[in-house]
Amino acid sequence: MKTLIVYFTRTGNTKKIVDILQKELEGDVETVTEESSRQGILGWLKSGGQGGSKADIPINPLKAAPSDYELVVMASPVWAGNMSAPMRAFIKKYKETLPKTAVFLTRDSPDVSEAFTDIDELLSKKPLAHGEANRRVIQADEHHEAVKQFLEKLTHE
Ligand SMILES: Cc1cc2nc3c(=O)[nH]c(=O)nc-3n(C[C@H](O)[C@H](O)[C@H](O)COP(=O)(O)O)c2cc1C
Repeated sequence: MKTLIVYFTRTGNTKKIVDILQKELEGDVETVTEESSRQGILGWLKSGGQGGSKADIPINPLKAAPSDYELVVMASPVWAGNMSAPMRAFIKKYKETLPKTAVFLTRDSPDVSEAFTDIDELLSKKPLAHGEANRRVIQADEHHEAVKQFLEKLTHE
């Protein structure tokens, strides 16, 4: 299946997930970019505020066209209980043109089911698979099993 992986990362954890997805799915990869900075404590506060309030923010246009693909896999950190603001902006901007989708979240909390519910509601069609991995697991380089389970769900759909 022709696959595009779209992701956002602030501190690199989500990128480690995407590196495996890219290899396994042989997909094209694109990061959601924006003009403003999320560095430092101010960037942390801004990100938490925008995550919690489900803010819609400006992002740069993607280079790829999601409609050229059969599957778009989205990967994002969780911020204040929700997907990151750049990923929300991506979905809002492109949801009418998205093909089949799947979603992977990186997180600290044990339960991010509300973030998945919110994403499912925002997308026109339910994603084929949800995946998730804890930041500590990723930083210990023990996230391969979580990605494997996600890929198994995806390929059984
Ligand atoms: C501003 C902010 C808010 C966060 N809020 C949550 C949260 O509510 N629940 C959670 O599980 N993780 C939360 N996290 C943790 C991140 O989701 C987690 O560390 C993630 O792996 C970071 O991904 P990244 O390195 O790709 O940016 C938060 C992180 C930041 C920066």
